[in-house]
Amino acid sequence: MCRDNAIPFARPCIGPEEEAAVLRVLRSGWLTTGREALAFEAEFTRFLEDPEGGLPPLRSLAVNSATSGLHLALEACGIRPGDLVLVPTYTFVSTAEVVRYLQGEVVFVDTAPGTFHIDPKALEATLARLSRGEAAYPQSSGPGSFGPRGIPKAVIPVHYGGLPCAMDAIMEIARRYGLKVIEDAAHAFPSQLSTGTWAGTIGDLGVFSFYATKTITTGEGGMVVSRDQEMASRIALMRSHGINRSVWNRYTDTQASWSYAVVAAGYKYNLPDLLAALGRVQLARAWALLDMRKTIAAAYDAAFQDGVHFSLPPTGPGDARHLYPLRLNLESLAITRDAFIQHIQAAGVGVSVHFIPLHSMPYYRDRYGLREEDFPAAMESFHRVISLPLWPGMQDAQVDRVIQVVKTIAQEHRGV
Ligand SMILES: Cc1ncc(COP(=O)(O)O)c(C=O)c1O
Repeated sequence: MCRDNAIPFARPCIGPEEEAAVLRVLRSGWLTTGREALAFEAEFTRFLEDPEGGLPPLRSLAVNSATSGLHLALEACGIRPGDLVLVPTYTFVSTAEVVRYLQGEVVFVDTAPGTFHIDPKALEATLARLSRGEAAYPQSSGPGSFGPRGIPKAVIPVHYGGLPCAMDAIMEIARRYGLKVIEDAAHAFPSQLSTGTWAGTIGDLGVFSFYATKTITTGEGGMVVSRDQEMASRIALMRSHGINRSVWNRYTDTQASWSYAVVAAGYKYNLPDLLAALGRVQLARAWALLDMRKTIAAAYDAAFQDGVHFSLPPTGPGDARHLYPLRLNLESLAITRDAFIQHIQAAGVGVSVHFIPLHSMPYYRDRYGLREEDFPAAMESFHRVISLPLWPGMQDAQVDRVIQVVKTIAQEHRGV
């Protein structure tokens, strides 16, 4: 149902500066990748720059989505058909599908109980099993099933909701097993560990999303960052058809050479200037947008910490607060999560569920012969979680209404 006073689940915060930036590009005579994309990359690097200056320089590469960025990152890590890549089951499908683009095999890992993050203990246990020559999915059953074997080449931790994963533990395990680490930082801009280090800059590569619902947005878009110059150069090559040099100015600069060489079968994953211009403004507003999200999340935290019907999302000082995944304490309620959602929607409030664990999706379930109960912590979170609206620009009255709707449903369906 669509009502005039409905509260959407997400809404981008776009103002006159974004409009002016897009108009500037529209009038510039050049719409696709060019000066704006280059400036966006430079500004993104500056934002994430190591303040101590002791690390190798970071490179930022703008792409047309985080999905493209994850694909390029895996390709740069040298993933080949049959290679194993570890992925949390509790994530959006992009994190796993890119492994299949390269005909690698996905090895799912459960979440740490009480969090939405990959469990370092489960990661270690999976790696130990694989090192003993056992199958990735020993429980695997059913006609289409098989258990890939071997030592994985990479792991893709996901900073779910904008809260950084346990990167110290993950990096230690990854280095011990010789894994490349690609941080899926689609939700995590700007997001910091307790040390002040930026999520996305800790592993070998980090990938951010600027999809329409994300913390800063270009509608569609993404950024890959890395301090590994070789991998960054490979990504620059592969995001642009495998052409061996930057050729964007060959149509606009009369002095630019028309000649180029294709040295690999690349992709077309570049970010157009129209979107990069939007991204530059959003980047400059990143702190202000974060403050607005934090204010809303704090109001939700205060309202839902009753300790009876709800469990608050885990959080910390560096949380980008992209999502507000409220957990229902179903034991205290006489209603299922799905029915709860129907009531919220009927009251004109948009909600979502992040995420449906990937091992339960028909494609992955059937490919690897998996059962829902194979990843119990992820299923436990999934069956209880509801993502509430959380977007900069939400009015206090809208936040209050979401709280009132959710609390009323819980009251009306409290268990006996
Ligand atoms: C965890 C995660 N990774 C990757 C992506 C893919 O981002 P994009 O839509 O920019 O391709 C998403 C998108 O929602 C996501 O939630």
